[in-house]
Amino acid sequence: MRYFVGNWKMFGVPNSIGILNKINRFVSKDKNNKKYRVLVSPPFTLLESFSKIFKKKAIRIGSQNCFHKDYFSSNTGAISPYMVRKVGAEFIIIGHSDNRAEGDSNKLLQKKVLFSIKNNLKVIFCIGENKTEKRKKITGKVLKSQITKVLIKKFNGKNIILAYEPIWSIGSGKIPSEKDLIGTIRLIKKTLKKIFGTKSVPKVLYGGSVDSKNIKNFKKIIELDGFLIGGASKSSKNFIDIIKNYYR
Ligand code: PGA
Repeated sequence: MRYFVGNWKMFGVPNSIGILNKINRFVSKDKNNKKYRVLVSPPFTLLESFSKIFKKKAIRIGSQNCFHKDYFSSNTGAISPYMVRKVGAEFIIIGHSDNRAEGDSNKLLQKKVLFSIKNNLKVIFCIGENKTEKRKKITGKVLKSQITKVLIKKFNGKNIILAYEPIWSIGSGKIPSEKDLIGTIRLIKKTLKKIFGTKSVPKVLYGGSVDSKNIKNFKKIIELDGFLIGGASKSSKNFIDIIKNYYR
């Protein structure tokens, strides 16, 4: 099973449903649709309406983030995993580099993962090295630490999908070389196996400047279980072309 996950970030108003209607129509008729799943994460403001509309349809709706408390609290502006689950979200992105840059520490991220799983949300946990770390050749060390400081055996690997997103690649048009990416994905899977065991090792996605042209470079990397797509997920044509070109 492959995953194509759209991350809308700060994009979208009620009218943007048109984009998802087109993607949903494509997926429901696609001859390859048994081979993959499409998940899209609009902003909080659209979660309830979009989740309702796509409840029994081909695509799934999830959240981009949450506050690190389980249920209700007195934190102004905060939204808990319980609240996103209650409006229909089925999964949640946690640990995106945008949020890490805003102060999400490993400790805080672990709480977000814990409470999300508790509320029956599938967690897409993001990790990735920055440009300096890549240059210093400490990518492996950085990723291992990001994984082992947050993910623990009791979470059960089946509740988690890992997304490897090099920070230097997000929105830059740059993607890792095939050799680097294969090496990194193998290291990530090895680290995950140590935590969760071979039977419930999480799927691993790649994210960062994935588009309908460069998707063909990723096709041959069989270790990859799918993609987390930012910019290109805001256009139905670009998103659909990514899926089409992946299976071409
Ligand atoms: P991008 O974003 O595809 O626009 O590079 C990916 C992400 O940040 O999840």
